[in-house]
Amino acid sequence: MIFETIISTVNSEGIVNFAPFGIKKVKNFVYISPYVPSTTLMNLEHTRCASINYIDDASFFINCIIGKKNFKKEKCFKIKGYFLKDALAHDEVVVQSIKENRIRPKFKCKIVNKLEHKRFEGFNRARGSLIEACILASRVKILKKEYILKELNNLTNPIEKTAGIKEKKSWLIIKSFILNAIK
Ligand SMILES: Cc1cc2nc3c(=O)[nH]c(=O)nc-3n(C[C@H](O)[C@H](O)[C@H](O)COP(=O)(O)O)c2cc1C
Repeated sequence: MIFETIISTVNSEGIVNFAPFGIKKVKNFVYISPYVPSTTLMNLEHTRCASINYIDDASFFINCIIGKKNFKKEKCFKIKGYFLKDALAHDEVVVQSIKENRIRPKFKCKIVNKLEHKRFEGFNRARGSLIEACILASRVKILKKEYILKELNNLTNPIEKTAGIKEKKSWLIIKSFILNAIK
């Protein structure tokens, strides 16, 4: 199973980066597969650690896509780096091995610290739609325009039926980002 998370890494100068990534978990290990090139990939190679942030507020994904990544953060306890202050939980991981690949290498990371911060209040369909919209947004350059428009239309229903104020605002932001990108 793949879990959609926000990964936080730092570069060799300690500058933080947040980015959405789907991760796989097996026992005490997290697998991260970043496409080449990405800041997360470079940081993982250089500093060999990351925090994996579990969230239920989909606006973090939207803000990453539109480049507003100045999130509130706290220092990690067992690795060099930061976790999202508003995460429900986070894991601190260190890279144990890298399966090299010129398109998409795979990082096997050991969890060295696990922390829970807030209660998970339950699933919300609108938030699921927002994550799907972010996936579309991150692939606008490779997907066909007709497909994107059809998918966007399919995602509208859960938004209209189940979104709160924050989700409605996020929907307008990500929709206009996508429509602008495929103009
Ligand atoms: C929900 C979600 C999951 C994603 N999962 C991955 C992934 O597993 N691998 C990947 O290379 N990109 C993934 N992406 C796209 C990256 O977030 C995107 O390429 C981003 O620009 C990388 O940021 P960085 O260069 O700051 O590391 C995902 C995007 C979203 C919205």
